[in-house]
Amino acid sequence: MKVIRTISEMRNWVNATRQKGKRIGFVPTMGFLHEGHLSLIREARKFADQVVVSIYVNPTQFGPNEDFDRYPRDFQRDERLCRQEEVSVVFYPTNDEMYSPFHKTYIITEDLSGVLCGRSRPTHFRGVTTIVGKLFNIVQPDIAVFGQKDAQQAVIIKRMVADLNFPVEIKVAPIVREMDGLAMSSRNKYLTPQQRKEATVLYRSLQLAEKEYADGNTDIQSIKSKMRKLIETESSGKIDYIEAVDAETLDAPQLGKRDTLVALAVYFGNTRLIDNTILKKQN
Ligand code: PAJ
Repeated sequence: MKVIRTISEMRNWVNATRQKGKRIGFVPTMGFLHEGHLSLIREARKFADQVVVSIYVNPTQFGPNEDFDRYPRDFQRDERLCRQEEVSVVFYPTNDEMYSPFHKTYIITEDLSGVLCGRSRPTHFRGVTTIVGKLFNIVQPDIAVFGQKDAQQAVIIKRMVADLNFPVEIKVAPIVREMDGLAMSSRNKYLTPQQRKEATVLYRSLQLAEKEYADGNTDIQSIKSKMRKLIETESSGKIDYIEAVDAETLDAPQLGKRDTLVALAVYFGNTRLIDNTILKKQN
């Protein structure tokens, strides 16, 4: 496994690999890897000969009062995990390598980046699309894998790839959870033991939505208010949003007629956790 820190060296590797006719799979991450990330690596391997993982905590996707500085980092551990997963290359660039001091260009997906998480994180998705666009140009993957954990991110990346004709196929892999249902996240590390226990309410609220829907409730307002009540009565979590939108377009949902994304963001102390489920359309 190679650790590559510069764009020029990455390009040399990509050119050599393409010349051999090998397919490149790509998993972009911000490191502090967990089983969720590793599941994406395994998924990428199914469709590619060589897997590249990028580890880069991207400053442009963090707001001014967010956790960029304290975002957890442990490169040695990440490197070991990637080696175990038989990753070919870990691309681990510095900020100077990724952003010139004169950087002025951003990729913006209109509308999609202003809803759900975009409401409380207005510049977040512009940072995500810009860095992922840059990484796609550097790594030139045939396929790239993203997690359903960040459902809005996956929708936005698919839109960007289609709109800007990036020659890459996007795969979305399911949410990997802890034994008690909490979606794995690098940010779970911030939780106190008490918050960690309470945070299981997020998955339970999504399961409640699934059950209501399965039992025939198609009133999305009533489903959302039951979720809200559960979270408020069983935890100290402060709800940022509980929303239901069309899973593909993020427009107003047509529950029953089209797949509906039920997504939420809840603060436990300063830690903002997200999770979601899809209520499948009924045939
Ligand atoms: P990061 O939060 O490190 O996540 C990297 C990838 O892992 C994303 O596609 C995310 O959806 C996926 N992932 C995280 N937790 C998961 C879980 N529990 N189950 C399944 N997949 C999970 O997302 C980012 O980094 C950044 O925004 C990035 C795309 C790298 C751009 O900077």
